[in-house]
Amino acid sequence: MREQHAARVAARQAEDIARLEHFVARFRYGTKHRQAQSKLKQIARIEADRVEAPARARRSLGFEFIKPARSGRTVLETKGLRVDAGGRTLLDGVELVIERDEHAALVGANGSGKTSLIETVIGRRRPAAGTAHLGHGVELGFFSQHTLELDERGSVIDCARSATGLSRQDAQKLLGRFLFSGYEVQEKLVRMLSGGERRRLALAVLVASGANFLVLDEPTNHLDIESREALEAALEAFEGTLLLVSHDRALLDAVAERTLSIEAGELRSYDGRWADFVRAREQAREPAKPEAAAKSSKPRPERPTKSRDAKERERLEQEIERLENQLTSLERELADDWANLEKLSAYRITRERVDRLVERWEGLVEEESSQSRDASVERSD
Ligand SMILES: Nc1ncnc2c1ncn2[C@@H]1O[C@H](COP(=O)(O)OP(=O)(O)OP(=O)(O)O)[C@@H](O)[C@H]1O
Ligand SMILES: [Mg+2]
Repeated sequence: MREQHAARVAARQAEDIARLEHFVARFRYGTKHRQAQSKLKQIARIEADRVEAPARARRSLGFEFIKPARSGRTVLETKGLRVDAGGRTLLDGVELVIERDEHAALVGANGSGKTSLIETVIGRRRPAAGTAHLGHGVELGFFSQHTLELDERGSVIDCARSATGLSRQDAQKLLGRFLFSGYEVQEKLVRMLSGGERRRLALAVLVASGANFLVLDEPTNHLDIESREALEAALEAFEGTLLLVSHDRALLDAVAERTLSIEAGELRSYDGRWADFVRAREQAREPAKPEAAAKSSKPRPERPTKSRDAKERERLEQEIERLENQLTSLERELADDWANLEKLSAYRITRERVDRLVERWEGLVEEESSQSRDASVERSD
């Protein structure tokens, strides 16, 4: 279709421009300033014959309408929190701060107390000691591991509309993104859905419920791979704060920028994704005395700082550079061996990774500049 083609071209152009701009911003004054100059010219050339996109084409397509109200800066704060269950202390001395727009994962072995902890921090369980509070303006959306809260009275579309307040059209779009496409499926009665479909529907309406703090406990259990990917895309695009409990490695990798981990009755915080977390943990693991290792690498007192952002940004820059080099050599190899499926797929995957990293990098840069802009406003907060 002509329109689809235009959309693809426009998306690719936008993507190319974004990558070039990213390069220019990074290297304008550095050792690569000459290349940066030529990239600027390239941008101008693309701009000159830019194709109009028939509709916005981004990964977040279909979610532009979901923009929850902003909460205060601190979304969740615990002090000296202790969590007990069944006469046993699961966690003690939890000092946790989650700030607005953080996407954090909570990991830990089965039975380590993840569910108990999040139920405590959102006020569903009473702390055994200490306190846990949600910040002001926080609208909580909770997805429980054990109970599904879903209005079962009407059809799928009724449910989506009443839970989100969306127009029929937007509700249809939302449902489409969560793989409920077509009239027949959307008019199905909720009580006729399978268990997996119900969970998928519950997640769809939660993401669009207006909540600005999503707390999801094992959301991908019983979901098939397509549904997991739909959720992944939705959470990546979610413009709010997220606390995610999951064993789903792909989801963790895609979504979480910070990893909280329950280890030996303590909550630890690692800045970075699941992969970074695994690396950090391996480094911290001292051969002889796990006890001593635990003490020496005590987590930071939980408040993210600008220098943390800056460090993450630098790490991203290095990673992007590394992947871009990989792309260049793959491109070279593909030029000779263009039908090599393995290389093609490696190229595609690497390119997608770079795009994601660049997006995060841009987010961080934006955040850093908006933090300095916000500084005076936040003080009264
Ligand atoms: N109400 C309760 N009464 C007795 N024991 C409980 C209760 N709630 C939780 N527990 C126990 O506390 C421990 C932690 O449970 P929790 O559900 O928080 O773990 P989890 O980390 O979420 O595990 P999973 O990965 O299996 O979801 C388990 O040993 C569980 O049996
Ligand atoms: Mg659990």
